Amino acid sequence: MLNIAIDGPSGVGKSTIAKAIAKRLGIIYLDTGAMYRAAAYFALKKGADVNDESQVKPLLSELNMEIRYAGGVQTIYVNGEDVTPYLREHHMSKAASDISALPSVRIKLVELQQAIARSADIVLDGRDIGTVVLPNASHKFFVTADAAERAKRRLIELREKGSDITFAEILKDIEKRDYNDSHRAHSPLKKADDAVLIDTTNMTAEQAVEAVLGYIAR
Ligand code: DC
Repeated sequence: MLNIAIDGPSGVGKSTIAKAIAKRLGIIYLDTGAMYRAAAYFALKKGADVNDESQVKPLLSELNMEIRYAGGVQTIYVNGEDVTPYLREHHMSKAASDISALPSVRIKLVELQQAIARSADIVLDGRDIGTVVLPNASHKFFVTADAAERAKRRLIELREKGSDITFAEILKDIEKRDYNDSHRAHSPLKKADDAVLIDTTNMTAEQAVEAVLGYIAR
């Protein structure tokens, strides 16, 4: 069974790399960050504080998350509603980072991720795939890039969408999320000891994909 784990901080291009790998190998891609975003969407819609375990935990029994694939594209349904269009909104990044620190949320989503990974050859990206979700993954990668380089890439992306956000604002957001994700008590962002480190600061996305495929082929 092919289980490829790609972990790393926000905005490093994990999803671009993971999607390209899935396409080249003809396997499915699971964006686990989108699952935390969907959980945040659900909790916010219910009026809960996404930082508060005592408010979020009791709601989780009502959360039915379903991942479907059509033409290689992942769609997330929350209680039957396609929530995919809302997940990349700017405020959802912070809400997802906050809710992902809650143990009850992690337990639920990790179980779902493990069940999906058992069902098919798959590449997953996230923060804890190689350390917690699939410690026995057949291949593990930890992708990094300097925060300033990540902010620069994100700025280009957001400017193309017409946003007038500044470089300084994006950099501050990225540094804050890096700190949150790597300092939380449960499953912090961390390179697995046996993961291959890929630093993409001076690489194009294509070069990063080739580097990962090169290791898989070995
Ligand atoms: O990759 P992303 O930006 O879509 O992830 C959103 C948030 O979810 C991010 O702040 C960290 C969290 N996350 C996590 O804790 N574990 C994962 N496996 C994936 C994402």
